[in-house]
Amino acid sequence: MSGAVWWKSGTIYQIYPRSFQDSNGDGIGDLQGIRRRLPYLDWLGVDAIWLSPIFPSPMADFGYDVADYCGVDPIFGSMADFDALIGDARASGLKLILDFVPNHTSDQHAWFRESRSSRENAKRDWYIWRDPAPDGGPPNNWISNFGGPAWTFDEATGQYYHHAFLKDQPDLNWRNPEVRAAMYDTLRFWLDKGVDGFRVDVIWHLIKDANFRDNPPNPAYEEGQPDIARLLQVHSCDQPEVHDVVAEMRSVLEEYEDRVLIGEIYLPIERLMAYYGEDLRGAHLPFNFQLLQAAWDARHIDGLVREYEAALPDGGWPNWVLGNHDRQRIAGRVGPDQARVAAMLLLTLRGTPTLYYGDEIGLPDVPIAEHEVQDPWEKNEPGLGFGRDPMRTPMQWEPGETFGFTTGKPWLPVDRREPSRTVETMREDPHSILSLYRRLIDMRRSHEALSQGDYEAVEAEGGLIAYRRVLGGERFLVVLNLEAEPHIFDPAPADRGGRILLSCRAERQGEEVGKTLELEGHEGLIVALPAHRHIRP
Ligand code: GLC
Ligand code: CA
Repeated sequence: MSGAVWWKSGTIYQIYPRSFQDSNGDGIGDLQGIRRRLPYLDWLGVDAIWLSPIFPSPMADFGYDVADYCGVDPIFGSMADFDALIGDARASGLKLILDFVPNHTSDQHAWFRESRSSRENAKRDWYIWRDPAPDGGPPNNWISNFGGPAWTFDEATGQYYHHAFLKDQPDLNWRNPEVRAAMYDTLRFWLDKGVDGFRVDVIWHLIKDANFRDNPPNPAYEEGQPDIARLLQVHSCDQPEVHDVVAEMRSVLEEYEDRVLIGEIYLPIERLMAYYGEDLRGAHLPFNFQLLQAAWDARHIDGLVREYEAALPDGGWPNWVLGNHDRQRIAGRVGPDQARVAAMLLLTLRGTPTLYYGDEIGLPDVPIAEHEVQDPWEKNEPGLGFGRDPMRTPMQWEPGETFGFTTGKPWLPVDRREPSRTVETMREDPHSILSLYRRLIDMRRSHEALSQGDYEAVEAEGGLIAYRRVLGGERFLVVLNLEAEPHIFDPAPADRGGRILLSCRAERQGEEVGKTLELEGHEGLIVALPAHRHIRP
């Protein structure tokens, strides 16, 4: 089998714990629920699960406001439940990745309570406190990512504290070595429990400009964009010193074996690459979100894959993400037919793929009525389409009122428009998107060229994208049609004579590829090319 480390060869599956499986009828998913569904994940073939935050939290931002880094919120269960989950995961060979939220705590965290208690408190400097501007207003013009000022005035002590997100999420002061030490200890707490790594929340935010300079206005701002887009985030995040912090986190993980550090980073490609760190001492996987926002156009996506591949530092391992709990779902964005092509793209590109729960059954965004809104961002900036509830709705396990998610009332509504869009129904259907995902994951597992092989761009035109994956003598050609119209691909002589291994649309296995390759609308193909006489270096 492959010599590659698990986070290079494997597939990661993101679980949003509130919405995966409820076990006690309160309408909110929990750890026992996840545990019950491990056999499903095993069947699907993923290698690792990443859980969005499970720590004690007032849930102002649904767990991204942590009140205790070393506990489990009672909504999700107990520490014993966690231990049972990690035990079962290990027994079925699944790695477990936790969400680490270092940029901010909850305002209910003991550290912040102390910090705000007086200017003299020993933890005052653990957060970012500044005097008011001369006019009494906020210290600078920074805006919260959820709209409004990024500063809240504290009456009792007469200063403002900084929060890049909600006022309930005060930012920690990562320039303070005590904060760093305390936070690294929380990492060790979970690493000691056997956790296989962390996805680090907004890692590029950790260090802010030492002088708290105003952010410049964004000349491209347009009405209808979120408040945060009014300014260019030049001084409030992505500061050079952040890379020291990332390298320190990496060193903490390296006190243990085979753990992975994944960074959540929304930045343009060249700045993203810096998070691999000097001499690759940074994040193992700075999340690559190119596909989340990309216009679904073949030339555009082909271009961004090439650009990303070319920008990677030597030895830096790529990764691809198609969905997460903050962004519109892929099936909603590109439609059910292209969602299958997207699956083939995600699982045949070079680099670790991350799947978002529900995407494997083609779950679309679920419309949320105004009175059912939960997401604080939607509440702060309503009606503009920024809300994240639609992509956080319950997993659909089996036909029924709540799709087997809960015996109670689900915390977010389920979508009743497609009653048979469920795991149970789709796993019986060899042509379902779920079966497609499973076959793709299986193929990636059984052909090292697909997981480890080189990526070679292949020229294609119009609605088509083509590339090769190559390892030793094993070669695959992938051709994807991103449009509804059929297209013909003309393989170069070296790419002829292969046989179709999988179509995401029709049963075409075994079909030989000659001078032309016809693709139906919305079709993607993996072709096994004849072995190349190849001399290994
Ligand atoms: C990240 C999370 C998002 C959260 C924010 C603040 O972007 O993915 O869900 O609201 O950070 O923690
Ligand atoms: Ca529950």
